[in-house]
Amino acid sequence: MALQRPKGTQDHLPDGSPKLSRDVQASAFAFVQDTARRVLERAGAQFIHTPLFEEAELVKRGVGGSTDIVRKEMFTVYYFGDHGGYVLRPEGTASIVRAYLQNGLKQLPAPLKLWTHGPMFRAENVQKGRLRQFHQVDYEVLGSEGPLVDAEAIWLMWEVVRELGLTGVRVKLGSIGDPEDREAYNAYLRDLFTPHVERLSDDSKDRLTRNPMRILDSKSEGDQALIRELNVKPMLDFLGEEARAHFEAVQRSLTAWDIPYDIDPSIVRGLDYYRRTAWELHHEGVGAKSALGGGGRYDGLAAQLGGPEVPGIGWAFGIERLLLALEAEGVAFPEPGGPLLFLAAMDEENVGLAARVALQGRRVARVEFAYRALKPGNAFKEADRRRARYAAIIGSDEAARGVLNLKNLASGEQQEVALADLNTFLAERV
Ligand code: HAM
Repeated sequence: MALQRPKGTQDHLPDGSPKLSRDVQASAFAFVQDTARRVLERAGAQFIHTPLFEEAELVKRGVGGSTDIVRKEMFTVYYFGDHGGYVLRPEGTASIVRAYLQNGLKQLPAPLKLWTHGPMFRAENVQKGRLRQFHQVDYEVLGSEGPLVDAEAIWLMWEVVRELGLTGVRVKLGSIGDPEDREAYNAYLRDLFTPHVERLSDDSKDRLTRNPMRILDSKSEGDQALIRELNVKPMLDFLGEEARAHFEAVQRSLTAWDIPYDIDPSIVRGLDYYRRTAWELHHEGVGAKSALGGGGRYDGLAAQLGGPEVPGIGWAFGIERLLLALEAEGVAFPEPGGPLLFLAAMDEENVGLAARVALQGRRVARVEFAYRALKPGNAFKEADRRRARYAAIIGSDEAARGVLNLKNLASGEQQEVALADLNTFLAERV
């Protein structure tokens, strides 16, 4: 058998591919990225790219040593003579905060809004919507702790979803408080679970010492049954005064802006850097356990990475999951277009001329040409197959007179245009 791609990865395919579904359609990815770009740039976000691999230490300190991501899902990068101190990035936030600190971006006007898109890597159990290489659109705001920035971040996610044409999306909103609130909650959880430690999964036994809150996020059925039995109080009950006031301010803005949301008192994100506001967007087409996207505030992250205190907040969408949701809702999509003009030559000696005219036409429009001589019937068939709007066939008469006979493939109308005027003709129709 021919070689296969690694498990949990996908090829993004051109339109017309026989095995095409929306979550692997390259033009669908581009549509989501372009939609996000439009929404985010109108809000003043600027594009940033960071490397696909980073020091393992950055991810450990950023994402957190007790998370599944760091404990089980890291792809280590080895190369000749190296000990594997790098990992493929599992997410974008730690990298963007690192880049912010390393490149002195603090000097830019605050709050600084950044966005990116690209592949992320997690060695997860592969299932629908859960891949080992997946793609995110990621938005981060650095340098402001005001709750209006939180609400705006959620509004932007909502706006991306709206512009994409999705309707069945729910916002689940929560808060994980300040570090001291979280400590109080963890102490409560430790007391609650310790008498039942034998019933916890091995992972959760470990979580009980490192970070009990992570138990609530466990994928083990046994753990979840115990959680239900114990009637665990939610994190929201432990919010301090400031975190509570912040949370209420965020909600006031969302209500004022008509963004529907449900308070999810038990929201636990899969990363350790969050503080205060945290949320996820869900959609039925993607499955109850999988979010379309999520985010939160991470005011302590910059200091955790060795920099000064810089408040931050952000979110990421999984592009594959957005595509699954679009497919589930059957959202109509811009049809991929063909070239404005398809050119062919009737005989071998004019193939070179057809090519030259096409190259010249490409200064203003998408123009394709046939690489060998074609009979008129075949040339028009080929133009149709490529969804061209105009086709022209160059024979010795056209070559001698320096003209093209352009056929509008929709109406059948023909029109003679001098080669010298071709680009004007094309430019008027792009
Ligand atoms: P996250 O919740 O880990 O957050 O991931 C965000 C989104 O990425 C998920 O909601 C999901 O759509 C997608 N995703 C995650 N893992 C997979 C996977 N294995 N396969 C397919 N899609 C996946 C973050 O990554 C944070 N950095 C978000 C953030 C930015 N928080 C603050 N700023």
